[in-house]
Amino acid sequence: MAFRKLVSQLPNFVANGSIPRGTRVRSFASEGAASPVYVVFGAGGAVGSDLVGRLAKQQGAKIVASDVDQGDLESLGSSAEIMPANTEDEAAVKSILDKAAEKFGKVDGVACCVGSSLIKPAHLTHAQEFHDAIAKNTYSAFNILKASVGPMMKSGGGSIVFNGSAIAHKGYANHDVMAAAKGAIAGMTLSAASTYSPHNIRVNMVVPGLTEAKMTKRLAESEEARDASERMIALGRLGGAHDVARALEFLLHPDSSYITGTFLHVDGGLGNIAPAEAGDSKQA
Ligand SMILES: NC(=O)c1ccc[n+]([C@@H]2O[C@H](COP(=O)([O-])OP(=O)(O)OC[C@H]3O[C@@H](n4cnc5c(N)ncnc54)[C@H](O)[C@@H]3O)[C@@H](O)[C@H]2O)c1
Repeated sequence: MAFRKLVSQLPNFVANGSIPRGTRVRSFASEGAASPVYVVFGAGGAVGSDLVGRLAKQQGAKIVASDVDQGDLESLGSSAEIMPANTEDEAAVKSILDKAAEKFGKVDGVACCVGSSLIKPAHLTHAQEFHDAIAKNTYSAFNILKASVGPMMKSGGGSIVFNGSAIAHKGYANHDVMAAAKGAIAGMTLSAASTYSPHNIRVNMVVPGLTEAKMTKRLAESEEARDASERMIALGRLGGAHDVARALEFLLHPDSSYITGTFLHVDGGLGNIAPAEAGDSKQA
């Protein structure tokens, strides 16, 4: 319904309490305000495991934690139901969502914290490396979207949050493959946010920059590489997994029920702004 038409009918709603046909009503309660059920993929990683810890502190929260690497999930202890899966496998992802919905009666929030890294120019990249990056990042995100919306449509809504990357929002040399993989997820996020809005399903993306994690371990260990990276970041430091997990939790939470189709950058400025030169602020 057009906004102007809706506004023109507002006095009628107030007068007789009726809602015209076709008006979509959103209720806070329908998004799992009480005892929320969350599924976290990539839960053995730096960001995913921090997110599980945060969600576990929410009142009555039930969490399913999944990763391809079962060993990484063991550190989560009893804070979550552990269900290992390879997110490149469509049937495996669907099975996790179905089991979560069957066990807890619904699924309110799903986070995709699965990812990989590849720093190479296109002309040196093998077809298999490109295929692997797309499978691990983009196909995983698609499988998660596809499997999540079924249970959410049944229970009246939910929130899906993907992890993108700053390198898909600003051009950085030698990130051709990862920019393609994460850029595709950004486009999918916008389309899916529209597709599933009539079902009260919100779809958003957190956009990390350089973050301390398994995939950046080598970079963080080399003082030279770390210094060079920090000089590219306006806030002058790598992000922590907790910085990214906090943003994911925010977007998953039912209190964010009016936010959909959004990219929340958690990158110290890497994707959008140039670092100031020393002395710039003196002139301001
Ligand atoms: N760390 C960074 O600098 C950085 C930068 C930009 C974007 N990101 C994104 O942030 C998200 C979180 O990554 P992180 O920083 O915690 O890295 P991480 O390497 O610590 O975690 C990634 C996790 O994904 C899991 N995984 C990989 N392939 C999988 C598969 N096929 N099926 C299931 N699980 C699989 C890994 O086992 C690992 O636990 C990812 O989407 C990543 O692409 C991270």
